[in-house]
Amino acid sequence: MQIDIVSVFPEYFDVLNLSLFGKAQSKGLVSVHAHNLRDWTHDVHHSVDDTPVGGGAGMVMKPEVWAECLDDLLGLEPREVNADGESDGTGNAEHQPASDSASADTASDSDSQAPVHNLDTVLIFPNPSAPLFTQRDATELSHAKRLMFGCGRYEGYDARIPEYYRAQGVDVREYSIGDYVLNGGEVAVSVMLEAITRLLPGFMGNPESIVEESYTGSEALLEHRQYTRPAVWRGMGVPDVLLSGDHGKVDRFRRDEALARTDAIRPDLIEQLDCAQLSKADRKTLMALGWEVSAEHPRRLNRE
Ligand code: ADE
Repeated sequence: MQIDIVSVFPEYFDVLNLSLFGKAQSKGLVSVHAHNLRDWTHDVHHSVDDTPVGGGAGMVMKPEVWAECLDDLLGLEPREVNADGESDGTGNAEHQPASDSASADTASDSDSQAPVHNLDTVLIFPNPSAPLFTQRDATELSHAKRLMFGCGRYEGYDARIPEYYRAQGVDVREYSIGDYVLNGGEVAVSVMLEAITRLLPGFMGNPESIVEESYTGSEALLEHRQYTRPAVWRGMGVPDVLLSGDHGKVDRFRRDEALARTDAIRPDLIEQLDCAQLSKADRKTLMALGWEVSAEHPRRLNRE
């Protein structure tokens, strides 16, 4: 997987030489280039931002600098976009989406991020005002050949930048990593990059460790709690069943704990479960937790 990151702080990504990501680079699984956006400026101050049109605090990243950079990295020619958001001519045809419906993508339509493209190249902008990045997105993006991340700073980037590249047929995504505001996209890119690349075959030392994790697979449950030795530490024991050697009982205990923790912490995830996929034992546990499980998805009964 080829990864390009554009940032005004490319050194931030030096950490990618460490740990599993560093190993994945040495093994040739991923190839990462962090580019300095200021390399595409032409003025003496290397400025990348300007005041917001319409007024307001802070600065907004300028489209011209981003476009010069992204055109270069994507191998695109500059074009004009008409009032319908369509680009003139056909010069950037290699980035045309696999399906016609993709050309209807707009920045405001979160459903438009459905995987209609061929995942050759995906351009990603972290943005606190975008749809949430989830494990499902990480899984989908782990199949891309090339990922390009654009890190915004200040009050963000000119909204025409992602729109323009969509009009060129590029698969452009905008994601938030959570309901809080960071100083820039660098941390968000690191988070997304780790979530995506650890799913690449050969990335993890022990590939089994990603199979049972929270949010993995078609159902997303919080994971059961983990313990290691000693069995008693500072007077605190581990649940007896985990020491029983009975794998069936251990599996059931862990599954029940996953259901109970998800019920307590993220009931929205329980509501998304598919009742038809649940075992009889799962349904019994959910009913004991106050869920009704006879419809398509569990429904919480009123609890005192
Ligand atoms: N940039 C600033 N805050 C962010 C967030 N929560 N997610 C993604 N990008 C961001």
